[in-house]
Amino acid sequence: MVTVRWLLRTLLVFHLLHFSTSVDTITSTQSIKDGDLIVSIGKIFALGFFSPGNSMKRYVGIWYYQVSEPTIVWVANRDNPVNDTSGILSINTHGNLALFGSNETFPVWSTNIPVTSAKNTVAQLLDSGNLILLRNDTNKLLWQSFDYPTHTLLPFMKLGLNRRTGLNRELTAWKSADDPGTGNFSYRIDPTGFPQLSLYKGTTKWWRSGSWTGQRWSGVPEMTSNYIFNVTFVNNQDEASIVYAVTKPSVTTRMIVNESGFVQRFTWSNADRRWIGFWSAPKEQCDYYGHCGASSNCDPYHEDKFECTCLPGFEPKSPDEWYLRDGSGGCKRKREMSTCQKGEGFVKVARVKIPDTNVTRVEMSYDLKACEEECLKNCSCLGYTSAYGESKGGIGCLTYYGYLIDTRTYTNAGQDLYVRVDAAELALYAKKGSLRKKTILAIGIVSSVATILLLAFAYWLFRRKRADKARDAKNIEFSLTSSLTHFDDSISVKEPDGSRSNFDLPMFQLSTIVAATNNFSPDRKLGEGGFGSVYKVLSSGLLIS
Ligand SMILES: *[C@@H]1O[C@H](CO)[C@@H](O)[C@H](O)[C@H]1NC(C)=O
Ligand SMILES: *[C@@H]1O[C@H](CO)[C@@H](O)[C@H](O)[C@H]1NC(C)=O
Ligand SMILES: *[C@@H]1O[C@H](CO)[C@@H](O)[C@H](O)[C@H]1NC(C)=O
Ligand SMILES: *[C@@H]1O[C@H](CO)[C@@H](O)[C@H](O)[C@H]1NC(C)=O
Ligand SMILES: *[C@@H]1O[C@H](CO)[C@@H](O)[C@H](O)[C@H]1NC(C)=O
Ligand SMILES: *[C@@H]1O[C@H](CO)[C@@H](O)[C@H](O)[C@H]1NC(C)=O
Ligand SMILES: *[C@@H]1O[C@H](CO)[C@@H](O)[C@H](O)[C@H]1NC(C)=O
Ligand SMILES: *[C@@H]1O[C@H](CO)[C@@H](O)[C@H](O)[C@H]1NC(C)=O
Repeated sequence: MVTVRWLLRTLLVFHLLHFSTSVDTITSTQSIKDGDLIVSIGKIFALGFFSPGNSMKRYVGIWYYQVSEPTIVWVANRDNPVNDTSGILSINTHGNLALFGSNETFPVWSTNIPVTSAKNTVAQLLDSGNLILLRNDTNKLLWQSFDYPTHTLLPFMKLGLNRRTGLNRELTAWKSADDPGTGNFSYRIDPTGFPQLSLYKGTTKWWRSGSWTGQRWSGVPEMTSNYIFNVTFVNNQDEASIVYAVTKPSVTTRMIVNESGFVQRFTWSNADRRWIGFWSAPKEQCDYYGHCGASSNCDPYHEDKFECTCLPGFEPKSPDEWYLRDGSGGCKRKREMSTCQKGEGFVKVARVKIPDTNVTRVEMSYDLKACEEECLKNCSCLGYTSAYGESKGGIGCLTYYGYLIDTRTYTNAGQDLYVRVDAAELALYAKKGSLRKKTILAIGIVSSVATILLLAFAYWLFRRKRADKARDAKNIEFSLTSSLTHFDDSISVKEPDGSRSNFDLPMFQLSTIVAATNNFSPDRKLGEGGFGSVYKVLSSGLLIS
């Protein structure tokens, strides 16, 4: 069987390489029949008829002309094969490129554009692998295969949505190696909320590449610099799209969605004469969409522990399932939080692929501080994060409504997510924080002659690398709401030599301070000093005990 396959492949290679005509165009007077080939001008790509795998059916496709392993990058009639070798590809009387089988009046496939003139319409195969249909008198582009991808994304090809026409260029897997028909897996940009690129199985999300963080997709931590690949993401009123360009023309690379539901990138090795797997996804359990259900976080680095953890303020919906290590049911609120209550705030979950952004509201002009205020204002807001969270300081604002789903932790990548919690939970995380050797210092300064008591806090957080003692809190760093979150730097105390020092100062229970300052409410803030923010407290004497 293997040898038969090998023989077929070899024959195919022979077939592909040695049928020759040197034209790169199809015109109204020059069509191609099964067995003919057109080749792009630089002899990079070829177009002709082929039969995939063990199939005898005939398809029109595009493949690399010089790559010795037969590699189909595009298929015209993927769902309508020609059963014999009667196929003819030609410009029909309406100016469409059409594939005819034995029925000479009804094409099995056509470019299906509005009627134009056949006389001046030509189809041309370009060195990029793009098959274009254009008017040779006006040079007007009528149709291009790059707008109708099959399972392969070639360099310079655009993936994504044209918001004006509604055209969404997506990749769709083959049914099998023997059948290039439209399979169950597709990879596309969903513009709902904040645009994301996701792999779907049928209509359900399978794996999210996630939203664009400014440099890469939030679910693809491997995507680093623009070395060799020059990636351009565009999100404006006209489109939401991505283009992977290559800066070195000698690099032959392609990305595909394969029939078993993986996105793979390959590069061609001239030396080894084979495709080298460069990258693929999904990789681990935490990558699969909603592996841990709503309101939870998937942390694959939890050693000998269950990878699912509830987000701050949440607990397992079904403790039994959770105990049995099935986290798909997700988590529920420990206490109901439907109305804005006093003392609510946010707990930071660090270094994550942010939850599904299709339920977010986007404000690109907001910074993180404004974002927090926006979220705190609306009682149904569940949390917030920066839109481009990996850019320095973060750019823009995403606020979540409805649910937080498909969050996962990374070790050296990811964005910070701020989850809304009630006052009790906030105090709990404050305690956890001290458990992990985060020291919080508070300086109370009594300074007024009147009944006003002024307080200055110096907060200083330092992190010891004794992670063993604090594994529980390893990936959930907390921070307190309002001013504190954002004055981390201003409240840390630096010695002249740059080292950080401890202060011999009175210490207060954090919850006491939270209560006294009405949760660091801005209206209780008096100003900021060298040590941090200064607050008016509710009752004098409360802190002096
Ligand atoms: C356009 O293509 C037609 C064939 O379809 C050809 O006869 C004609 O000469 C071409 N015109 C130009 C300007 O190239
Ligand atoms: C090929 O054969 C299948 C099944 O026998 C049939 O449904 C289909 O219409 C045929 N296609 C063409 C182009 O004749
Ligand atoms: C071609 O296909 C059309 C539509 O399926 C059908 O009506 C017609 O009879 C077919 N012609 C031939 C010659 O098979
Ligand atoms: C696609 O999904 C359907 C329904 O789950 C299944 O019956 C079918 O076999 C799948 N097709 C392929 C090519 O995997
Ligand atoms: C990368 O792509 C952008 C936009 O397409 C282009 O302006 C830039 O010149 C490219 N950079 C390189 C190194 O190719
Ligand atoms: C699809 O890609 C995955 C990951 O690279 C690989 O393990 C699998 O064998 C591929 N499936 C097919 C049918 O090529
Ligand atoms: C967001 O995506 C999830 C998962 O695919 C889907 O169930 C939900 O309906 C989507 N919500 C919106 C508002 O598009
Ligand atoms: C809160 O946000 C939801 C979802 O975007 C919106 O429907 C609602 O009007 C907002 N409420 C207020 C008070 O802004």
